[in-house]
Amino acid sequence: MTASVSGSSKDRVLIFDTTLRDGEQCPGATMTLEEKLEVAELLDTMGVDIIEAGFPIASNGDFEAVSLIAKQVRRATVAGLARAISADIARAGEAVRHAARPRIHTFVSTSPIHLAHQMRKSEEEVLEIITKTVTQARNLIEDIEWSAMDATRTPIDYLCRCVEAAIRAGATTINLPDTVGYATPDEYRAMFRAVRERVPNADKAIFSAHCHNDLGLAVANSLAALEGGARQIECTLNGIGERAGNAALEEVVMAIRTRGDVLPYETGIEATMLTRASKLASAATSFPVQYNKAIVGRNAFAHESGIHQDGMLKNAQTYEIMTPESVGVTKTSLVMGKHSGRAAFRNKLEELGYSLADNQFQDAFERFKELADRKKHVYDEDIEALVDQNIATAHDRIKLVSLHIVAGTRGPQRATMRLQVDDKIVIEEQEGNGPVDATFNTIKALVPHEAVLELYQVHAVTEGTDAQAEVSVRLSADNRSVTSRAADPDTLVASAQAYLGALNKLMSRGARLHAQHAAE
Ligand code: KIV
Ligand code: ZN
Repeated sequence: MTASVSGSSKDRVLIFDTTLRDGEQCPGATMTLEEKLEVAELLDTMGVDIIEAGFPIASNGDFEAVSLIAKQVRRATVAGLARAISADIARAGEAVRHAARPRIHTFVSTSPIHLAHQMRKSEEEVLEIITKTVTQARNLIEDIEWSAMDATRTPIDYLCRCVEAAIRAGATTINLPDTVGYATPDEYRAMFRAVRERVPNADKAIFSAHCHNDLGLAVANSLAALEGGARQIECTLNGIGERAGNAALEEVVMAIRTRGDVLPYETGIEATMLTRASKLASAATSFPVQYNKAIVGRNAFAHESGIHQDGMLKNAQTYEIMTPESVGVTKTSLVMGKHSGRAAFRNKLEELGYSLADNQFQDAFERFKELADRKKHVYDEDIEALVDQNIATAHDRIKLVSLHIVAGTRGPQRATMRLQVDDKIVIEEQEGNGPVDATFNTIKALVPHEAVLELYQVHAVTEGTDAQAEVSVRLSADNRSVTSRAADPDTLVASAQAYLGALNKLMSRGARLHAQHAAE
C-alpha cells in the first residue's frame, strides 16, 4: 500500500511525530500537560499526519495527556503506544478513543538478543503474542500500527514471518525501527525492500521507518527507507529522543523538499512553521538547540566568512540551498523598546508565530514592558524567551516574588527570598558558597526536597552586557529528571526561576516535595 496524493507525481510520505513519546522519554525532557497540549496543537496545525501523544499505561499523567490530546486534535491521527500486553493495549485504546482519528501503536521485540535476554521467549511464542495482541488492538480501533522492536538486528526470515502475522491480524502500518541506531542506509533500504518483496500480504500495509541517531545516521536511514518502499517516517522536533535521539522532523522534511530531484516524495508539512515548532519544543523540554543544528540552529543561515558573505551579497544561491524564510526564519524588521506599544507588540508576536489568549497577551505585555525598562533594545530572541517562560509558568504552584542577594569578594554570600507557594507567601534567608549556592539553599529551605541538581548552565540570549541570561536547570527525583529554563537580565533571578520551574515540573509529576512553610 502506498500513500499518494491525487494530482501529484510524487508519493506522499506520512510524517509521524513522536516528540511527545520517544522525545519526552529521554532523560530531562519531561513536559507538563499544558506544554504537551501546546506542542500537539502546533504539530496538528503544521500538518503532521500522525501525532504519537504518549504511552498511556506508563502513568496516570501520560494517560490524561494522551486522552486530552485525542480530544483536542481534529485533523491529525492521534496514536497511543502499547507494549504487547493486554492491559497496555486496553489502556491505549481507552486513551485515544475520543480522537477524530485514533491509532493504537503496539510493539514487541523480534531480535534474538531481545528475545533471549529481555523477553525470555522463543520465536514461536513471540509470533503467537503478535497475533493475539494485534487482534485485540484491532477489535478496539481500526487503525493499528505494529512495530518490530530492534528490527534491524532481526534475521530477515523471522522478521518476514512476524510482519506477515501482524498484517494478517489486522495491522495497517508496519514499523521496522532501527531501535539501537546501528543500521547503515544501504542495509536499512535493503531490509524494507526484502520485507516488502517477500511478505505475501505486504501490499495491505504502509511501511514505516523509525530511526535512532546513535551513529548520526537517523535522517539518512529514514530517507533510504523511502527508497526501500517505506511511506511513513517517524521523527521528532529537534531530533530529541532516547540516547542520541530520533530522526529530526525538520531535517527529513527539508531534505525531501530541497532535493526533490533525487527524492521524489512530498509531505504535508507547512515548512514555514518549522522554526516556531523547534523553538516551542526547545522551550517545553528546556533542551537547547545546538547552534549549528541543520535547519533550525541559530547559525543554520548565518554566513561568517568573507568569501561566503561576498557570494551571498551577489547571489544568495551561491551559498544557500534553501531560504531562511522557507523554514520560517523572519528577518528582524523591528527592534522593540520601551516606547513600543501594544499594537507593535501584538504585531511582533504574530510575526514570531504566537497567538496568545487575551490574559496571556496581557501578562506577556507587562513582562515585556518591565524588560524594556531594563534593556534598551528588546530583540526577537528576548521576546521568545519571555513568552515561552510565561506559557511554561502559567500553572506553577511555586512562584518567585522577590530575591535579594548579597555577593562580592567578602563572603558569606547571602540570599533573601520571598516565594508564593499556592496562595501563601513565605520568606527565608540562607548563606552559600557564592550567590547561586545561596539562592538554591534558600529555595531548599523554603521547599524541602530530595531532588538532585544534575545540570546548571547559563548562556546569553543575545549579545551585549545587558543581554538576558538564560539559565537551564536539571533536577532529578524519584527516578525522573526534568529540565527547566528561565531568562532574565539578572543571572541570579533567572537561576532562581529555572530552579523553581524544575521543582514545579517535578511537583506536577507527583514527586514528593514538601512546601513546608506553606503547609504551616
Ligand atoms: O525505537 C523503538 O524501537 C521504539 C519502538 C517503541 C517503536 O521507539
Ligand atoms: Zn524509538
